[in-house]
Amino acid sequence: MPQPGSTEERSLAHWAEQGRAGMEAFYALAAEDYRQMVAARDWAADLREHGDAARARVLDVACGSGKFPAELQRRGLAGAVGDLRVEVDLLDPSAFSIAEARSVLAAPFVPVGEHEVRIQDLPDDVGGFDVAWATHALYVVPPTEIGAGIARMVAALRPGGFGAVVHASETSHYMRFAQAFRTTFAPDATPFTTSEQVRDALGAAGIEPDVTTIRYDVGHPDRAVIEGFLQRCAFDDSVGLERMETEGAVGEYLAGTHGDDGYRFSQVVDVITWEVAR
Ligand SMILES: C[S@@+](CC[C@H](N)C(=O)[O-])C[C@H]1O[C@@H](n2cnc3c(N)ncnc32)[C@H](O)[C@@H]1O
Repeated sequence: MPQPGSTEERSLAHWAEQGRAGMEAFYALAAEDYRQMVAARDWAADLREHGDAARARVLDVACGSGKFPAELQRRGLAGAVGDLRVEVDLLDPSAFSIAEARSVLAAPFVPVGEHEVRIQDLPDDVGGFDVAWATHALYVVPPTEIGAGIARMVAALRPGGFGAVVHASETSHYMRFAQAFRTTFAPDATPFTTSEQVRDALGAAGIEPDVTTIRYDVGHPDRAVIEGFLQRCAFDDSVGLERMETEGAVGEYLAGTHGDDGYRFSQVVDVITWEVAR
C-alpha cells in the first residue's frame, strides 16, 4: 500500500475519473513522449524476436491509459508483426488506468490478464513473460522501493525475455520541475524516481542494460494547458501557474524555460533495455 500523503498516493488520486481533465491537459504535451519513444527503436522486432511463432506474452507495467500501445498501433505495429498475437497483461494499482488501457488495445494486442497492484507487490506466481515494459511509468515508485519494483519486473520475465523501461533522466523537465516544486511548495513530498536510479536498481538485480538517450522539447501556446500539464507533473492542483511563475525555485526554473513563443520544456529520456540470461 502507498504511504498516506506520499507522491504515490497523490498519483493514485489523479489516476481516477476525477483526474480526467488534468490527464487530458497533460497529454496535450506528453503525447510527444510516446511519439518519440516509439520512433526510438524497432519494437516490432523486439516482440517478434522474443515471442514464439504464434504469440508474445507482454506485461505492461504501470499501464496508465495505454498511450504506448496506442502509439504502437497508430504507427502500424499490426502489419510489422505479421501473424503474431501479442497477449498483454495490464498492471497498475489504479482500476481506472487498467480500464482506460484495456479500452484502447487493438490488434495485434489482445488483453488477457489484469493485476491491480503496485509493481513492488506483484505476487511471485505471476511471471514467465516474453516481454515486460514500463514506459514513463515508474516515477512515483519511491526511490527506496524502486529496487524491489525493478527486481520484481526482472523476475517476471522468462529466461531470455526482454525488458524495457523508458524513463526521464534527472536532467529532464519532469525531474527538474518536480524537484523545484518540492523545494518551493511541498518539502514533505516523496521525491520522484529518476532513470539514474532505475539503472542502479537494474545493476543491483544483476542486469547490465543497453541505454539510448533521446532529447526533445515540448510546449503549448495555451497557458491553461500549460498550467494543467505542470500541475499533473507534480500531482498537485493546489498551485496555479501565476504562483508557480513568481515563487522560489519553481519561478526560477520556469523563467529559464520561457521563450518568445511561450514555454518550451526540454526532455531527456533514457530508453533502457535488457535481455534476461537464458
Ligand atoms: C504516466 S502513467 C504510465 C503511462 C503508460 N505507460 C502509458 O503507456 O500510457 C503512470 C501510471 O503508474 C501507475 N502507478 C503508480 N504507482 C505505481 C506502482 N508503484 N507500480 C505500478 N504502477 C504505478 C499510476 O496509477 C499510473 O496509471
